[in-house]
Amino acid sequence: MEIMLAKTAGFCFGVKRAVDTVYEQLEENQDRKIYTYGPIIHNEEVIKDMEAKGVTVLQKEEDLDHAKDGIVIIRSHGVPKRICDRLDALGIPYVDATCPFVKKIHRIAMEENEKESCLIIIGNSSHPEVEGIKGWAGEDAVVISSAEEAEKFSISEGRRVCIVAQTTYNYNKFKELVEIISKKGYDIIVLNTICSATKERQEEAASIAARVDAMIVVGDKHSSNTQKLFEICDHACNNTYYIQTLDDLDMNQLRSVETVGITAGASTPNNIIEEVQNNVRINF
Ligand code: F3S
Repeated sequence: MEIMLAKTAGFCFGVKRAVDTVYEQLEENQDRKIYTYGPIIHNEEVIKDMEAKGVTVLQKEEDLDHAKDGIVIIRSHGVPKRICDRLDALGIPYVDATCPFVKKIHRIAMEENEKESCLIIIGNSSHPEVEGIKGWAGEDAVVISSAEEAEKFSISEGRRVCIVAQTTYNYNKFKELVEIISKKGYDIIVLNTICSATKERQEEAASIAARVDAMIVVGDKHSSNTQKLFEICDHACNNTYYIQTLDDLDMNQLRSVETVGITAGASTPNNIIEEVQNNVRINF
């Protein structure tokens, strides 16, 4: 059996940076508690390891009030401005591990708000990154995730519209929604803020999936970029499997195939990808 492992599988730059930050802070501040605001990445295995080393995950805004004894780490998704303000007001030191590509969107959101533009975020409204971006924009920033919402969008004439994207959004879907909004004749500026790591991972996954008999997508079930990767692969190869760890993989499903492709979401650690790859290799 031939195995094609995607070169872009696994941790992206921003996730690696955030994960490394947690381990560095644990090392450097052994006398203080280490908190992360939300799980640092969407991966249960990594979170379990961090918790075992003493990291506490804060689940909601109010939990910050009980974190005065420690250091709070902001994850790569970023947070709304009010969270940083609350941390400052409480006098809690924090390390901002927001991915620089997301931070750039926060800056755009603030600048466009100063210019009184209306910010459109093409993305999933319940995703923490999108909530974070919204929290640096004006009150009337909107999130659009479907053609229907794009068709319905309207603002008062003469107002400038600035469109950005959630970094992990599917590029083709972004283009489709931008085209719908562009037809409305507003003064529009479109900033494609999709991270190249996502685009490269998606393109490579699609190209591998189109050439193999079976495709394996490794990642946490809550990871939105892994879910999208699965959709893309499933479209190109109808023998696509979404697994979190090796335990979810039923080797019987691969018995009759000659080529297997493997890719993984941005929050999947290398050791899990390697384990899957090695086991597929050993078994066939
Ligand atoms: Fe950053 Fe791109 Fe990863 S935005 S967190 S490097 S997917």
